[in-house]
Amino acid sequence: MNQSIKPYWKNFIGGEWVDGAEGDRIAILNPATGQQLAEIARATPADVDRAVAAARKAFESRVLADMRPSQRAQLMFEVARQFETLADEIALAECLDNGKTLSGGKNEALAAARYFTYYGGAADKLEGRYIPLGSGYVDYTVPAPFGVSAQIVPWNFPLQIAARSVACAIATANTAVVKTPELSPLSCTYIAEACKRAGVPDGVVNILCGFGHDTGAALASHQDVDHIVFTGSVATGRAILGAAAERIIPCVMELGGKSAGVVYGDADLEQATASSAIGIFSHAGQVCSASSRLVVHRSVHDEVVERMAAKANGLTVGPGIDGADLGPVISELQLDKVEGFALGAVQEGGEAVAGGRRVADQSGYFMQPTIISGVQADMTIAREEVFGPVLAIQAFDEPEEAIALANGTDFGLCAGVYTNDLRLAHWTADRLVAGQVFVNEWFAGGVETPFGGTKRSGYGREKGQEALMNYVQTKNVGIRLDSGAGGRPGG
Ligand code: NAI
Ligand code: MG
Repeated sequence: MNQSIKPYWKNFIGGEWVDGAEGDRIAILNPATGQQLAEIARATPADVDRAVAAARKAFESRVLADMRPSQRAQLMFEVARQFETLADEIALAECLDNGKTLSGGKNEALAAARYFTYYGGAADKLEGRYIPLGSGYVDYTVPAPFGVSAQIVPWNFPLQIAARSVACAIATANTAVVKTPELSPLSCTYIAEACKRAGVPDGVVNILCGFGHDTGAALASHQDVDHIVFTGSVATGRAILGAAAERIIPCVMELGGKSAGVVYGDADLEQATASSAIGIFSHAGQVCSASSRLVVHRSVHDEVVERMAAKANGLTVGPGIDGADLGPVISELQLDKVEGFALGAVQEGGEAVAGGRRVADQSGYFMQPTIISGVQADMTIAREEVFGPVLAIQAFDEPEEAIALANGTDFGLCAGVYTNDLRLAHWTADRLVAGQVFVNEWFAGGVETPFGGTKRSGYGREKGQEALMNYVQTKNVGIRLDSGAGGRPGG
């Protein structure tokens, strides 16, 4: 495969590839080398105005709303086919831009295709209700779109996160403006490419790359945006919610986590530790649903610590393009942050039984796969999201204590249980405060299963049929059939 990518990438507004309004560019780095890889047009608030106007025009034209829903589905299936055709190209861009392996990059493309197929299949199945009002009336509900959906995307899985939101928007006849992450924007530009090739009408999907503080903020506070989908940090989520409150517009917020797997004494320890290793080391831990804590029964604690350390030490660390098990984190800043959490954990009394530092002899942003044992509930490493390959292990004696530890953070995105006791699994799943609970396999689920947070992990659900409910609001149509004065007193 040709391992170079084009040097300059553009934004996509109203069906056209465009430079930034001010002609500026953002340098795109390869996190495995720290070297510049390419440049992308820098969108500024003026570009946000243009993109929102294009999305508004497409929405007002009713091009999606008036299309027969089965035809909208066919259009989305064609977008999915284009993602499959582009998959190798996307894989390389995502590998070099984001530090994934080529197969990890390809998975982004295939996941995007899958979202368009899945939600395309739903486009002609969004039904309202008939509500009986007695003689002389007909009443029905319509799942109506909001209008222009603003979608602000993080750097970890940019393409699949953006694709699922765009797919929901199109299925429900909204139009979209996507603000891609400035640290890894390249794969998201293929949403525009796939939509253009598939014949999605101009203005339905607009893709911008810019920084958060100006361009992201301009999009979130834009007067003509009707709906926001955000995935990222709690602090940024709070700022966006503030902007949304000014205009009373709905948001979907996916704000990360500090998710714990509870390992009971009877668990299959090979299954529990293998699953936990995937849960924390996939994409170097830069996963909102990462398994970043293990809460382990004291009877098996030492064995779990030993097995997890062995798994961490057995991973190869290096560039994704070489197929290493653990790639880099996204930036120098993120590496400083992740290493700081690991060093701080030891200072606060934890023990680094594997890793604990950055990889010193590599030019990219590589962190050693790290296991911290002896973690107490009040330590920073037990409470704050690291977003790197760092696992914290806590011990418990009684199941109630395990629940208290697992639930003992401000977050509530995911949680896990490892046991062969069905009753204990249900008892635990009932008490874990999380949007999704995994039993005996971290990440059990898929495109079909609803995903989202509780507490400071956010609200609203993505994935699954439930996600579509975030993109529509019910319109009730009440019809009086006979003529005549007056009517019933209403509420
Ligand atoms: P961030 O939340 O600042 O960035 C996410 C997106 O929001 C990016 O597209 C960014 O440009 C945009 N953004 C930033 N400020 C904005 C603003 N004021 N208005 C509108 N949009 C804005 O996250 P960042 O700084 O990249 O990462 C910091 C930490 O956040 C990570 O270490 C991790 O703990 C967490 N995070 C969680 C993610 C998740 O999947 N839940 C994804 C990315 C980061
Ligand atoms: Mg990059």
